[in-house]
Amino acid sequence: MEKEISIGLLGLGVVGSGVIQIINDHQKELQHQLGHSIKVAKVLVRDIEKSREIEIAEDALTTNPDDVINNDNIDVIVEVMGGIDEAREHMLKAFAAKKHIVTANKDLIALHGPELEQAAQENGCDLFYEASVGGGIPLLRSLSDGLVSDRIEQVMGIVNGTTNYILTKMDEDGQSYEDALADAQKLGFAEANPTADVEGLDAARKMVILARLSFLTNVELDDVDVKGISDLSIIDLDYGKKLDLTMKLIGFANRHDNQVEVSVQPTFLPTTHPLSSVKNEYNAVYVNAEAVGETMFYGAGAGGLPTATAIMSDVVEVIKNKLLGVNGKQLIKPSFKKELTPPENKISQFYLRLHVKDEIGAFASISELFNQRGISFERILQTPKDNSDLAEVVVVTHQTSLQNFTDALKLLDELNVVKAVKSYFRVEGGA
Ligand SMILES: NC(=O)c1ccc[n+]([C@@H]2O[C@H](COP(=O)([O-])OP(=O)(O)OC[C@H]3O[C@@H](n4cnc5c(N)ncnc54)[C@H](OP(=O)(O)O)[C@@H]3O)[C@@H](O)[C@H]2O)c1
Repeated sequence: MEKEISIGLLGLGVVGSGVIQIINDHQKELQHQLGHSIKVAKVLVRDIEKSREIEIAEDALTTNPDDVINNDNIDVIVEVMGGIDEAREHMLKAFAAKKHIVTANKDLIALHGPELEQAAQENGCDLFYEASVGGGIPLLRSLSDGLVSDRIEQVMGIVNGTTNYILTKMDEDGQSYEDALADAQKLGFAEANPTADVEGLDAARKMVILARLSFLTNVELDDVDVKGISDLSIIDLDYGKKLDLTMKLIGFANRHDNQVEVSVQPTFLPTTHPLSSVKNEYNAVYVNAEAVGETMFYGAGAGGLPTATAIMSDVVEVIKNKLLGVNGKQLIKPSFKKELTPPENKISQFYLRLHVKDEIGAFASISELFNQRGISFERILQTPKDNSDLAEVVVVTHQTSLQNFTDALKLLDELNVVKAVKSYFRVEGGA
């Protein structure tokens, strides 16, 4: 093998520039690990004329994908252009040309991961995507290799930095959702169009990847229950404080008796839970496995250099595989039949906020209705509402099934004393 290994990049934005910077700054470390130096031979961009912060020879840039994909000097392609259809086409062509691929593209892997893994394997190629979840946190390999002998039962993750930043500002500074979002946009933590982040889609795609690796079953995006944070009220976060609960957008993946449940939703956690202390744009993934117990992975979930670190760990893996002659032979293939958890087996505590008539017996009738469904209350707060004949009631239930809870909500509608169900959330991570 050549003493110099050439790689190609599809994309030279935030992450692509980070990859070049790491190759420049840490060349010695890479050479020491591999016995080979790494060189970026060709980079696909949209606009060659664009001014770039990173220094790169002009003849290394191209707008023709074939200059990277069908380049005989290139063995490994790093896909950091983003998007779905075009990136997928480039990858399929690259596998056909026997190129190994490293990508940070969670959207593509969540939607087309199994198809791409099959194409990689059929062509004897590697496909790695460590950077697709949790940015710079060494996470996917920890799940698939580090815990290979264990049985992962639950993964709870803060996997979207934008929403965690917004929730931190709402919780700590008392900002409204709208103000916290505007703040995040000003600081570059949220995009001009924040929909994919705030409505939970970005987190859902990452949870698909985590659930597949954790449970070795082909979880798809449609299997994930998704709710974002855009209609969260500061009122609920304030009640949470009184109840020693912290609101987070939690990606939740649970396996019980071979039934798998994956969701993304605003969730209350005890303030003492390790995930409650994850602030601002940071990410963390909390894993519970049968033998090892609890582990948590924490760090920068995005950013050019952190994400590029994860990419380069994959690039090094591909090159090591090449040196050993085992490319394309290490893929984890989903192998268990998928069985989704039905609502009667989705067990958690719930937080519920109601407006009720402020009259004697009102709470007793609510409590009786829940009792009839076998649901009891762990915590209760009742506050009269100013200048009205209403009271605000907040309860936290003991553990119950989602089925029981939603049945009880329907019955609440028929109770005369209940004027409005204002909000409800899962409460996870309790005793
Ligand atoms: N940013 C992060 O912190 C982060 C973290 C984890 C994962 N990721 C993932 O990493 C990927 C890249 O993200 P990014 O933030 O680096 O994106 P970005 O800054 O928008 O950069 C995209 C790059 O791809 C090029 N490009 C896009 N579409 C192209 C096309 N059709 N043909 C040719 N070139 C094209 C652009 O060229 P021009 O420069 O000429 O416009 C640009 O250099 C995405 O999949 C993202 O989800 C990002």
